[in-house]
Amino acid sequence: MCGIVAYIGHRQAYPVIIKGLKRLEYRGYDSAGVALLNHNIKLYKKKGKVANLEETVLGQDLEGSVGIGHTRWATHGEPSDRNAHPHFSATGKLAMIHNGIIENYAPLKQELIKKGYRFKSETDTEVLLYFIEEIQSNNDCTLEEALRIALKRVVGAYVIVLIDQDHPDMLLAARKGSPLVIGIGKGEHFLASDATPIIEYTREVVYVNDYEIAIIKPDELVLKNLGNERQTPFIQKLDLELAAIEKNGYAHFMLKEIFEQPHTIYDCLRGRLDIGQGVITMSGIQNNLEQMKNASRILIIACGTSWHAGLVAEYVIEDLCRIPVEVEYASEFRYRNPIVHKGDMIIAISQSGETADTLVAIERAKEQGAVILGVVNVVGSSISRVSHAGAYTHAGPEIGVASTKAFTAQLTVLTMVALLIAKERKTISNDRYIQLLNELNEVPEKIKRVLDNAAHIKEVALKYKDALNALFLGRGYNFPIALEGALKLKEISYIHAEGYPAAEMKHGPIALVDESLPVVFVATKDSFYEKIVSNIQEIKARKGKVIAVVTEGDQVISEMADDVLPVPEADELIAPVISTVPLQLLAYYMGVAKGYDVDKPRNLAKSVTVE
Ligand code: M6R
Repeated sequence: MCGIVAYIGHRQAYPVIIKGLKRLEYRGYDSAGVALLNHNIKLYKKKGKVANLEETVLGQDLEGSVGIGHTRWATHGEPSDRNAHPHFSATGKLAMIHNGIIENYAPLKQELIKKGYRFKSETDTEVLLYFIEEIQSNNDCTLEEALRIALKRVVGAYVIVLIDQDHPDMLLAARKGSPLVIGIGKGEHFLASDATPIIEYTREVVYVNDYEIAIIKPDELVLKNLGNERQTPFIQKLDLELAAIEKNGYAHFMLKEIFEQPHTIYDCLRGRLDIGQGVITMSGIQNNLEQMKNASRILIIACGTSWHAGLVAEYVIEDLCRIPVEVEYASEFRYRNPIVHKGDMIIAISQSGETADTLVAIERAKEQGAVILGVVNVVGSSISRVSHAGAYTHAGPEIGVASTKAFTAQLTVLTMVALLIAKERKTISNDRYIQLLNELNEVPEKIKRVLDNAAHIKEVALKYKDALNALFLGRGYNFPIALEGALKLKEISYIHAEGYPAAEMKHGPIALVDESLPVVFVATKDSFYEKIVSNIQEIKARKGKVIAVVTEGDQVISEMADDVLPVPEADELIAPVISTVPLQLLAYYMGVAKGYDVDKPRNLAKSVTVE
């Protein structure tokens, strides 16, 4: 979703901002713009990619050591030059960028129109900016004061950054619900939606909290709440390497991230899994183990791929811990009147830690007294901060819009959480516990073996790339992996794909089967093996094309299927972490073969910070 970059200091702002906007391209956007302050404000914006903006500004005046830049993911008004950010205020003395949605923009707009204002764009952002300026002129107050008054009337989510022609030594920023990081340099400050544009300049950062206003000068950072009380900035050190946010020779971030998985799973296990001692150490979980152990129910809330990780966790936790689990789409949970009992435990799963629906669902659950355990990838993100306890997935920055390495890391963390609870509840035998610890430990090596087979997976992908539809089927632990395989394919290759529990096929989807329909089975050797063999026969009897993820050495399915994608043998509880990898590669190679931008698929955003 929208990306924000701003700079104030001794450098030229434009190169810092453009580079930062490129770092944020992965978030998804459809227009870009920049405003630079040097005596007056120069504003350039363009529909399309940051590269289009760069072409537009060739030969223009780009001087200025104060500036704001933005990549916009359209919400109010189509993607266009005039709806792109930044926006000018009515007098042209202020310019502003915004990430989020002002929900009550329509009545505010009416109010302003009645006063004679005319708008140049269809955006809620321009309305807010005019409103701030109107308050300032009516009250004859500072911009900071006007901002505070305006924000008290605003309903919705925002990060905004303002520049003021009359105060060229200052940036003003505010946050509620959308992310904002401030990097602290020597005589300079960097603002961004996440740390990726900042990391090459400084490692000292402050994450701005909701309802805070930041007054930023080259040498000074002041944080205040909406009551005008000063807040102490909490300075944190970024633990992030520049190499982690670059492609390092891979054609796409998605491919790099798929191939990083042996390493990311290893990182996720490192320091937690001690095979020698036969223990798992996760302090964030262990400090709350008593509550988890006694939970009468576990509710899992998440969206998209993270929701699929929640579905796998449902099987694992119920199996190992014998605690009932319900998995909810955060977007549904937040708008129902959900019943949260005292003693319920909530697990919120999110790669970005910024997904608006998940954040609000957490707030709803907290209002009802629930304890929140966050399973999050991005360190310092909003969800990690609003959770009572948590475990980071340590997958490193995930830039490709399609989630891959974050998913397998989520599965790994959730399995360890389940094992800890099961051990505490004594619902698992010691032998089984040790066996699963060993299985987890072997995952990086087994994923490596799947990746060694990438050339074969590519061949299969090329064979089916022109399919119009695809069906993904699995049973038990492999059912969520079928859902995830279908999601990956539709995101990246725009092929319509459906995931189903294999047994549900005969209740409807089987009507779709003919010789043109590829049906992808996740059919590794587990307790459902015989059943899934029958399901494959049912598809073959109707001339469907079967691609099957099978356990290495499988003879039975290999003879029935049109194509097989073998994976190393693993316990059925651990197998999903491995069997999802060939499906990631299948989607990747199909998307690339069709000529699509797999890192930035159309209409999608990496971090969905609006509902
Ligand atoms: O950052 P989150 O895990 O909260 O994001 C949730 C979904 O938006 C995300 O998983 C989305 O479905 C991805 N594009 C999947 O590849």
